Amino acid sequence: MKLLFIGDIVGQPGRRAVKELLPGLREAHALDFVIANGENSAGGSGITPKTAGEIFSAGVDVITSGDHLWDQKEVMELLASEKRFLRPLNYPPGVPGHGGGVFEIQNLKLKIAVLNAQGRTFMPPLENPFLLAAEEVKRLRAQARIIFVDFHAEATSEKIAFGRFLDGQVSAVVGTHTHVQTADEQIFPGGTAYLSDAGFTGPHESVLGREIEPVVKRFLTTMPQRFEVAKDRVRLHGAVIEIDNASGRAVKIQRVSEALP
Ligand SMILES: [Fe+2]
Ligand SMILES: [Fe+2]
Repeated sequence: MKLLFIGDIVGQPGRRAVKELLPGLREAHALDFVIANGENSAGGSGITPKTAGEIFSAGVDVITSGDHLWDQKEVMELLASEKRFLRPLNYPPGVPGHGGGVFEIQNLKLKIAVLNAQGRTFMPPLENPFLLAAEEVKRLRAQARIIFVDFHAEATSEKIAFGRFLDGQVSAVVGTHTHVQTADEQIFPGGTAYLSDAGFTGPHESVLGREIEPVVKRFLTTMPQRFEVAKDRVRLHGAVIEIDNASGRAVKIQRVSEALP
C-alpha cells in the first residue's frame, strides 16, 4: 500500500493547498491512505471541527496534531467525538482524546494503525514518549501490521533516537513541528521508513508560515507581536511511503514538495 503524510497544514492557504493538490497526488502516486498534521490548520494556531471537516472532505483519512492542539477551544469537540483525530499520546491519564487508532483502508480491506506522540526536548513537559509509545505500539500491533507514527518534536536527536527505538516495530516514523523539511529520508535496517521532518503545508514566503516582518520585529525588540498567516508561495510538504502489506515493512520513502499553481 502507499500512503501520503502531509506536514503541518498552516491556515487557509495550507487547507487550500491540500484541497487543490491532493487529487493530483493521489493519482500520480496511486495513494491508498492519507494522513495530515492539522495542528496549525485554524488561522495558524490549533484546529476546529470546521477546519478538520474541510481537511477530511479534501480526502485526508486521519488528522494528527501536536503542541498547538489546545489553541482553539472548539478542539474539545474533536477530542471527545472524532475518532479520526489524534492528539499526542503522552499526556497524563484522563486527558480527553486518543494518541493512537486503527483504521480501515477501504479499497484494500486492510487495517492501518496511526500513532501520534510528542517529544520533550525544547517542548512542553509531557510524559515519556519512548515508554508510552512502546506500550501503545504493542497494543496496535495486535490489530494491524501497518503502523504509521507522527513524532511531533523539535530536536533532531530525539527524533532520530525515537525512530531508531521503534525500528522494526512500526512501518514509518515521520517527524513534524519544525516546519522545515529535512533531506534524511531512509529506511532503517528493521524496515521502518524515517524522515526527521515532513515540513509544512502553507505559505513559504514566510517564517514557518507566518508573516516575516512581525517575527523579525519580535526578535529585534523582544516585544510581543501578532503573527498573521502569510500568503505567498504556497506549497504542500510531506512524504509518500510504500509499505509491504503482509509484513508491514517499508519498501520506499519519497519526500513531497509540491507548489500550488
Ligand atoms: Fe506546526
Ligand atoms: Fe508544533
